[in-house]
Amino acid sequence: MCGSGTTIDVAKELNRKVIGYDLNVVRPDVVKNDSRKIPLQDNSVDFVFIDSPYSDNIKYSDDEKCIGKISCEKTEFYDELEKTASEIARILKPGKVMGWVIADQWIKKKFTAVGFLMWQRLEKYFEPMDIVCLTRHNQTSNTGVWHNRARQFNFYLRGFKYLFIMRKPN
Ligand SMILES: C[S@@+](CC[C@H](N)C(=O)[O-])C[C@H]1O[C@@H](n2cnc3c(N)ncnc32)[C@H](O)[C@@H]1O
Repeated sequence: MCGSGTTIDVAKELNRKVIGYDLNVVRPDVVKNDSRKIPLQDNSVDFVFIDSPYSDNIKYSDDEKCIGKISCEKTEFYDELEKTASEIARILKPGKVMGWVIADQWIKKKFTAVGFLMWQRLEKYFEPMDIVCLTRHNQTSNTGVWHNRARQFNFYLRGFKYLFIMRKPN
């Protein structure tokens, strides 16, 4: 789920050996692959970073296998992402770490705690290490207008984007 390949660039800057997979290939060093079946051996990888779809809010591609076509309000969304989680657990070396980015959804006055729901699935395969709350620099909710409205009308700017850091048990 490496999308435009930011993760590949950062890994290279850190002198790591990197493989970036996605269904939607937008540059030559991205390998086309469905995250639910990763073509790597068991216990062979030192680190995994994944920025999965958060719901069906963005159209990533026409590929029917894209998990971003499933709403986070459906159990199926978490079932499909869990298949990816189990693949990550399979390929990681024991004791090694993965980072998973996901965000909550507030749409049409309905809140879905996507982060918590996903965390519950991930706990089946990994031990918790840390949760980092990512700031949303480019999002409309992070502008002065919304900060002022929140103060004036006494509401919270809610819904989080998370970086879950978890370890495969030894
Ligand atoms: C949130 S985006 C990742 C964005 C990326 N971090 C970037 O910097 O561009 C989620 C990605 O998941 C990919 N994706 C969705 N379902 C997939 C699947 N089953 N297997 C592999 N990639 C998938 C989409 O094509 C999309 O690029």
